[in-house]
Amino acid sequence: MKEKVRLAGPVDLADKLEKSRAMDRPIRVLAKAVREKIGPGRLRDWLHGVPTGKPLHPPLATVTLGCWVSVAVLDLMNTDPKAAKALLAAGVAGAVPTAAAGLTDWSSLHREQQRVGFVHMVTNLTALSLFSGSLLLRMAGRQGGGKALSMLGLGAATVGGYLGGHMAYRQAAGANHAEQVAHLVPLGWHDLCPIKDLPEGRPVTRRLGYIQLFVLRHGGGVSVLADRCSHLAGPLHQGRLVIENGEPCVVCPWHGSTFRIADGSVKHGPATAPAPTFETRVRRDGTIQVRPLT
Ligand code: FES
Repeated sequence: MKEKVRLAGPVDLADKLEKSRAMDRPIRVLAKAVREKIGPGRLRDWLHGVPTGKPLHPPLATVTLGCWVSVAVLDLMNTDPKAAKALLAAGVAGAVPTAAAGLTDWSSLHREQQRVGFVHMVTNLTALSLFSGSLLLRMAGRQGGGKALSMLGLGAATVGGYLGGHMAYRQAAGANHAEQVAHLVPLGWHDLCPIKDLPEGRPVTRRLGYIQLFVLRHGGGVSVLADRCSHLAGPLHQGRLVIENGEPCVVCPWHGSTFRIADGSVKHGPATAPAPTFETRVRRDGTIQVRPLT
C-alpha cells in the first residue's frame, strides 16, 4: 500500500527552526549584547513586566498589531485615509517599546526558544520597515504604493505573530513554570524532614510528593518555596542567597530572577510570577511540616 506523503505544515517548520543551529552564532552575540546593554535594574524589570506581574511584550504587541490590522481594514474598505495614516503611525510608534520588551525577554531564554524568537524578530522588523515605508508613501500622497506596502507588512507580521504564538504556547516562553505546583500538593500539613538534618543558612532541596522544594533553615526558622523557578524552571536551591533592602532573597542560577524568601514575590525578572510558598511548623519530635500557602 502506498504511504501517504504528508506536507510539512507551519508547525513542522517552526519545530525544525527550534533545532536548527544555523543562526546560533549571531543569536549568541546579540543575546549577550542585549543583556549587557540592558543590565540589571529598574529598566530591565519594567521591560520584563515585573511591576505588573505579567510579561509586558504580549500586550504591547497586541496594540501594535491591532493598529496595523485596522489599517488593512480601512484600506480594504477604501475609506478614511487620514485615520489609516494615524493608525499606521501609532503602530510604528508602538513597535519600538514592543521590540524593546521582546528583545529583553528573548535575551534570557533557552537556545531553542531563541532560535524561533530570532526569526520572529526578523519578520517583525521586516513588517516594521514595510509599515514605515507605507506611512512615508502615504504622507507623500502615494496612496496606492502605501496600501501595497501595508499589505506586505501585514503578511510579514502574520508570520511573526505565528512564531510568537509558537514560542508562547508550544515552547512556554513567558509562561509561569511554577503554576502546576499548587495542583500537585494536596491541601493540609505534610511531614517534610527532621529539622536537625537541615544545614543552617544553606538552601537544600527536599521532595514532597511530585515536587521538589527549596528549603532554607535560617534565623531560627525554616522557609520553604517551590524549587522550580517560575521563569523557566531553574533549580532555586542552587541559587545565591542575597540581602535586598534588608530582606533575604534567592537569585536563580539560570537567568538571575530574584525572589523574596519570605513570600516568594519577585524582586527582579526575567520571572514575573512569584515562587509558590509554603507555611512551615515544627512538630514536637523535630519534624518539619509544610502546607501550601493559598
Ligand atoms: S529559570 Fe530563568 S531566571 Fe530562573
